This record gives sequence, structure tokens and C-alpha cells, in this order.
Amino acid sequence: MSHPAWSEIVASPQGVIAPSMLKCDFAGLDREIADLEAAGAKMLHWDVMDGHFVPNLSYGAMVIEAARKRTGLFFDAHLMMAEPQRYLDSFLRAGCDAITVHVEAVPDPTQVLKEIREAGRAAGLALNPGTPISAVTPFLPLCDLVLVMSVQPGFGGQAFRPDVLPKVSALRKQAAPETVISIDGGIGRTTIGPAAQAGARLFVVGSEIFDRDDYATAMAELDALAAG
Ligand code: DX5
Ligand code: ZN
Repeated sequence: MSHPAWSEIVASPQGVIAPSMLKCDFAGLDREIADLEAAGAKMLHWDVMDGHFVPNLSYGAMVIEAARKRTGLFFDAHLMMAEPQRYLDSFLRAGCDAITVHVEAVPDPTQVLKEIREAGRAAGLALNPGTPISAVTPFLPLCDLVLVMSVQPGFGGQAFRPDVLPKVSALRKQAAPETVISIDGGIGRTTIGPAAQAGARLFVVGSEIFDRDDYATAMAELDALAAG
């Protein structure tokens, strides 16, 4: 995996904030992307929901592909869907730079993770709050990132679950140093510090950016809190 933004994440000691586009104003997607870029975002997080694996629908590869034409930012796709392998080609063609699938949806993700890497993208494996890390540990050598869900996936704006922090610490110890631990759900001013302390370096943030008027200030505050 040689995407420059990815190397920067792996190298960056305080980590990177990925705004979760689930919380953006979809009627002004163009403007939202430009505002986030101007605010210093290096990465956008795209939450794909199929109304089956999670009880909500969002958007698919076509929307991501349209956004790809507007920006060169790193695209981090989080597939909250059953059978992600059926749609993998469309997400690769859409220009996703990292693709994360859920271990609950694909109990043996060996093939799909290999295909993501073979396409030259970062491969990620996500686990829900109730899923033990033993579900993902056999596949860690195939992962560029492990995404720890700190809410039950499906909706933005939920409260952070501190009980997932020991999983972040344990994964940080077990995974290779170059494997990024990401955290998603309820990340804000009071929770980003503890998540960083536990070893997370990629912080997915929805409400704490999009509910603020000034994205640059929101991101700078979160960056400072992540750095400790
Ligand atoms: C939840 C999604 C998250 C979510 C984050 O299913 O995966 O990315 O939108 O939003 P906040 O930060 O509001 O929890
Ligand atoms: Zn997400």
C-alpha cells in the first residue's frame, strides 16, 4: 500500500481525523467537500449502509464515485453491508483508497481483504462493540487498518461506548506497528483523548464536525486533544 496519505497516517504520531460524510448536508455535497478540504481534512470517511446488515440505508458506490471527481482527498470507505465482496469492484472503480468490511458480515474475510490489497488499496476489518477481538486476530496480517466501532453501527450521533477502549489497547498490542487502529462512533472532545491513549490513530468523526459551524476550528480542537 503506497498511497502517500496512507503512509502519512501510519507515520503520524497523533493520527488523523476522518470526517464521516454520513453527517454531511447531502444536498450540498460539493460545498461540504470543499469546506472540509479548506478546513484541512486529509481524508473523508464514507459510511455505506445496506438496510440489512444495519437498520439504515445511506449511499453506495455511485455517490462516492461522483465525489471522487471533486477531490483528491483520501477516501476511507466503511462498508456496513452483507456480502461486501459482491460489490467490491464497484467500490474499487469508485476510487476508494481504503475499504473496510465487517467481520460480522464476512466471518472469513481472507479473500476480500486480499482482493482489496491486490487492487493497491488499504484493507480494513471492522468489529462491532459486542464482537470480541478474537474474531479479527487471525486476520490481522491481512489488515492495513482495524476499525473498532464505539457505537452500534447504523446511525450517527450516538453516545461513545468506553467499554470498547480495552479492545483498542489489546489490538494495538497484537497488531503490527504499521497496522492502523481506527475508532468510529461518538468521537468528540471528551472521547478522542482516551481513544488516542488506548492506541487509536484514525478518528472517524461525524457530529462533532458537522454540528459545528466552523469545521477548521472543530478539527483543530480535536487534533490538539488527540495529541494529548
Ligand atoms: C456509524 C458510522 C459512523 C458515524 C459517526 O454507524 O459508522 O461513521 O456516522 O458519527 P458520530 O461521530 O456522530 O458518531
Ligand atoms: Zn463509519
